[in-house]
Amino acid sequence: MRRASIDVCPICQGIGWKTLTFGAKQRVARCECRLKARGQALLAAARIPRRYEHCELSSFTTDFPAAHGSLALAYIAATKFAEEYDSREGTGLLIIGKIGVGKTHLAVGIIKELILNHGIACLFYDYRELLKEIQNSYNESVRATELDVLRPVFETEVLVLDELGAVKPTEWVWDTVSLILNTRYNDNRTTLITTNFPDGAPALSGSLSLARNAAREENLGDRIGERMRSRLHEMCRIIQMDGQDFRQKFRSASFR
Ligand SMILES: Nc1ncnc2c1ncn2[C@@H]1O[C@H](COP(=O)(O)OP(=O)(O)OP(=O)(O)O)[C@@H](O)[C@H]1O
Ligand SMILES: [Mg+2]
Ligand SMILES: [Zn+2]
Repeated sequence: MRRASIDVCPICQGIGWKTLTFGAKQRVARCECRLKARGQALLAAARIPRRYEHCELSSFTTDFPAAHGSLALAYIAATKFAEEYDSREGTGLLIIGKIGVGKTHLAVGIIKELILNHGIACLFYDYRELLKEIQNSYNESVRATELDVLRPVFETEVLVLDELGAVKPTEWVWDTVSLILNTRYNDNRTTLITTNFPDGAPALSGSLSLARNAAREENLGDRIGERMRSRLHEMCRIIQMDGQDFRQKFRSASFR
């Protein structure tokens, strides 16, 4: 006797596979109900913070007064990246721009697309949060070991590392970030990075160059070291975003 439950998928009757017919030929494929369930499980596992849950590629607008031209290019690059994502390639994105231009929105939009439409495992981590969790694991009263924290970061197919460089650089920070990025690079895994720091080589030591550099703002090289910056160039395509802080611009408007 068949169960007349409303929970049973009407397409596959709960088997998880459906039959596709091409003329005289037939093929089986995963049913949408399973893909949807997998998508929801992956989405929950991706740890996207609540304040970015609303970020989707489709809700990224480039059509507002005085929108900077780089936003449309960034949007096209992000959409293309998600559409043409190829796990064998491993090339990631380095999204660079000042505060509030929409870097995290695009990064989250990409992984949501990869999760829901391609069934790919992704993980979101704020750089500061990640380093804090690793540091916490050294505390003896904490159960998690360093590797417990790092394993998913090493192994997830696509990692978003948000706000790279936001922690004051120290030897430990540099070692940790190179361990993460190098491990993922060697395993051909994709990393999507956002940063507020402009791309550029660090200040050279030596009094004259230090004096010359004192006037300029800190760049990515200063914050993560030149070796890591150059590795990032191998790992990632660069997306540069310019323009005003979207939050300020639309604080009182209907945008979020
Ligand atoms: N072009 C856009 N269309 C729609 N929403 C946007 C756009 N740009 C930014 N936002 C929204 O504005 C807010 C700030 O954007 P986001 O957090 O992505 O900026 P950011 O570049 O990551 O800034 P920060 O440097 O502070 O991390 C978010 O709520 C985001 O959804
Ligand atoms: Mg951000
Ligand atoms: Zn089904």
